[in-house]
Amino acid sequence: MKNTIIMKIDAENIDDKSIEKCAEILRAGGIVAFPTETVYGLGADALNREAIKKIFAAKGRPPDNPLIIHISKTKDILPLVKEIPDKAYGVMEKFWPGPLTIIFRKSNIVPHETSGGLSTIAIRMPDHPIAIRLIEKSGIPIAAPSANISGKPSPTKAEHVMEDLMGRVDAIIVGGDCNIGVESTVLDITGEVPVILRPGVISREMLEKVLGKVFVNSSAGDFNKTEEEFGGINTKYAHYSPDAEMIVVQGDLDSIVAEINELRTKYEEKGKKVGIICTDETENRYKKGAGEITIKSLGSRKHPQTIAADLFKILREFDKTDVEIILCESVDDMEIGQVIMDRLKKASGDHIIKV
Ligand code: TXA
Ligand code: MG
Repeated sequence: MKNTIIMKIDAENIDDKSIEKCAEILRAGGIVAFPTETVYGLGADALNREAIKKIFAAKGRPPDNPLIIHISKTKDILPLVKEIPDKAYGVMEKFWPGPLTIIFRKSNIVPHETSGGLSTIAIRMPDHPIAIRLIEKSGIPIAAPSANISGKPSPTKAEHVMEDLMGRVDAIIVGGDCNIGVESTVLDITGEVPVILRPGVISREMLEKVLGKVFVNSSAGDFNKTEEEFGGINTKYAHYSPDAEMIVVQGDLDSIVAEINELRTKYEEKGKKVGIICTDETENRYKKGAGEITIKSLGSRKHPQTIAADLFKILREFDKTDVEIILCESVDDMEIGQVIMDRLKKASGDHIIKV
């Protein structure tokens, strides 16, 4: 057990002494959790093998699952990559700092521990004042996966990080909630046609405006594309799934509500504890009377950004209940809705009922 330092930092009025203390820990090979605009990350010196091993140990992460390196200035990528493909410039210019991770061929100074043994490396520049100041002050590239125990949802609040990593890391920066709430888009530009390996709020449409044709990897949750368009790369890692079995119901809203009510009755008759994930628009259409039930709303369908921001929080809340079956509404598969559906698809292990 480590003695984890809790460092409260106000993102709007950053205390440089606190940042300096965390930067010092990073330079010395320690591991520090910090907020970004997407989710909290667990950082270490990307070029220090021993430090990187501590990240994998603290998270219980398989050693071949590569990390993302976080930088604070575009020129910081130069020593980390073998080359910068022409197509990288436009997207870096347009989307950095921001929730876009780009895969490059890696240079020799990046240890294999960081890249999970791959010859490529993922890099992004976060759009969060605390993250940027921490990277700048430490003066090193910071490798950081999401700051959760492997197999749990990514943390969007400091308290999620504390739940998972107290006693396992050197410091946790408490710096407010992450406003995007889903992880960055991962874009591979090492091949001829760019491929989205993980959907995020930087959408295919946004990337195609800069890059032309972009593929979406099949396991990355593109619902409309054929297999050959996917570029053949597969995400092999298990994703978060709740302790309860989760079923997502997709269709028009009335049919969704009807199906969820029917499934609820069916499972309750079998003696199962049922939970429902709904939206503000539908919350009162699940009669709260009958069996004991946990109903949680993701928020209003009019504000999909807030649904994305609260999704992982709600999923974590269910793991604290004794619910055995979660029945979850789908959202419209448009823009950020696609990202929400990707994470729901993964959380349910692809258990989607279309009505
Ligand atoms: O928003 C985010 O990206 C957050 C914040 C902390 O920056 N980070 C994050 O990291 O979500 P992580 O480690 O939980 O997810 C990184 C993803 C993994 O799916 C990993 O397999 C993929 O990026 N990845 C990393 N390097 C890669 C590479 N060289 N080739 C293909 N995929 C890679
Ligand atoms: Mg993660």
